[in-house]
Amino acid sequence: MELDRRLKNKSARIGVVGLGYVGLPLAMEFCRKGFRVDGYEISRPRLAALKAGRSYVDDVSSADVARFSKNGLFRAHGGFDTLAGCDAVFVCVQTPLRKTGEPNLAPITEAAKLLRRHARKGRLVVIESTVFPGVTQDWILPILAEGGRKLGRDFFLAFSPERVDPGNRSYGIANTPKVVGGADAESTRLASLAYAQILGEKVVPVSSSRAAEVVKLLENSFRSVNIALVNEMALICHRLGLDVWEVLSAAATKPFGFMPFYPGPGIGGHCIPKDPKLLAWKMRTLNFEPRFIELASAINGSMPAHVVERVAALLNKDKKPLNGSLILVLGVAYKAGTADYRESPSLDVMHLLLEAKARVIYHDPHVPSLRLDGRLLKSKPLTASLLRGADCAAVLTAHRGVDYGLVARLSRRVFDARNAVPSGPRVEKL
Ligand SMILES: NC(=O)c1ccc[n+]([C@@H]2O[C@H](COP(=O)([O-])OP(=O)(O)OC[C@H]3O[C@@H](n4cnc5c(N)ncnc54)[C@H](O)[C@@H]3O)[C@@H](O)[C@H]2O)c1
Repeated sequence: MELDRRLKNKSARIGVVGLGYVGLPLAMEFCRKGFRVDGYEISRPRLAALKAGRSYVDDVSSADVARFSKNGLFRAHGGFDTLAGCDAVFVCVQTPLRKTGEPNLAPITEAAKLLRRHARKGRLVVIESTVFPGVTQDWILPILAEGGRKLGRDFFLAFSPERVDPGNRSYGIANTPKVVGGADAESTRLASLAYAQILGEKVVPVSSSRAAEVVKLLENSFRSVNIALVNEMALICHRLGLDVWEVLSAAATKPFGFMPFYPGPGIGGHCIPKDPKLLAWKMRTLNFEPRFIELASAINGSMPAHVVERVAALLNKDKKPLNGSLILVLGVAYKAGTADYRESPSLDVMHLLLEAKARVIYHDPHVPSLRLDGRLLKSKPLTASLLRGADCAAVLTAHRGVDYGLVARLSRRVFDARNAVPSGPRVEKL
């Protein structure tokens, strides 16, 4: 088959629609293996950055973007004229929830329509964006098939969940197995072949696109539920006057049957808070109430308020109210090692602090500025006077390279939600 041949000899042209945290690393990985990649991005600032050879994703270096742009392997486009030339296209656009809690399929629908408008016979389309079960088969397939096009003849379609873990230094695209489920068997085979070019043996085919969609939702529900369990354990230990971190590290010495997860100020990012909700939403349309998943979301969602309560209790020791106190938030990204602060629990904590009329400042080496409640906040350099001046420092994200010893020594009070700060008389841990 023509596409087989082109994938194997690397002459297949790869398209990536949506060059965000998922799409850009994937595009770079295909370039690294010698494929020509056309990337499509509608965000002007992102497009401008790529055209200037600059990366905005932590795990992708600007050097790679510049190198692959210069040698002609990577081209970033704001328009879609060249899309008809792509033999295999990976869709990596965002799939957010609406404020009402319903999945917003508008970006992925638009991407599917673009692929139909700029069709190419025999093309492989792979959806990487996280979706609820059935989207690939029941939503994307009919769009691609409009006008009498046939799956298996005119196009192939598969779903393969992205497993990007921003900031993870051990696992990236090239060494993380990839699950692939096609809309038919030939689509599974072709998509597996495409990924084999960047992953070698590490492709895991499953029987359907729906199974592959649920694999992703299981993985992230697993994380959400286990994080909720340790968050509840943190609340339990606090009531019992115990140190949850000591309990966890002792439990983690069990060599079987236990896997440590860590508590914190809540969950964030574009995946773990959202994906279980996608599954829960779908299941409610089938009259099934997923209780475990909902409970985990509720517990994780209550953690920012708990952090604020604990900060207030610390201030109380100094006879200070939240109102008017200066709170220094350390870390606003949703996890260590990334600049991504989407859905970050730090924002919820800061919002609650501001509502209580506290004065809020922050330091985050990865996030130079952010918008919160209509205000523009800028990261402050972590100096001795900053630490001494704050009534309480709250460690919400434990980035490497922050001097937590200094934080412990100079701060008036520290609330440490990440167990990053050395213990001390003025340090209180979650
Ligand atoms: N970020 C992660 O760690 C992660 C991990 C696994 C899965 N996912 C899933 O992958 C998907 C993408 O996530 P992300 O974090 O990369 O999102 P992102 O918002 O960083 O990137 C999506 C990009 O797609 C672009 N886009 C939207 N519509 C477009 C169109 N019609 N044409 C071209 N570009 C378009 C947007 O401008 C944006 O830059 C989501 O479904 C997410 O849930 C994300």
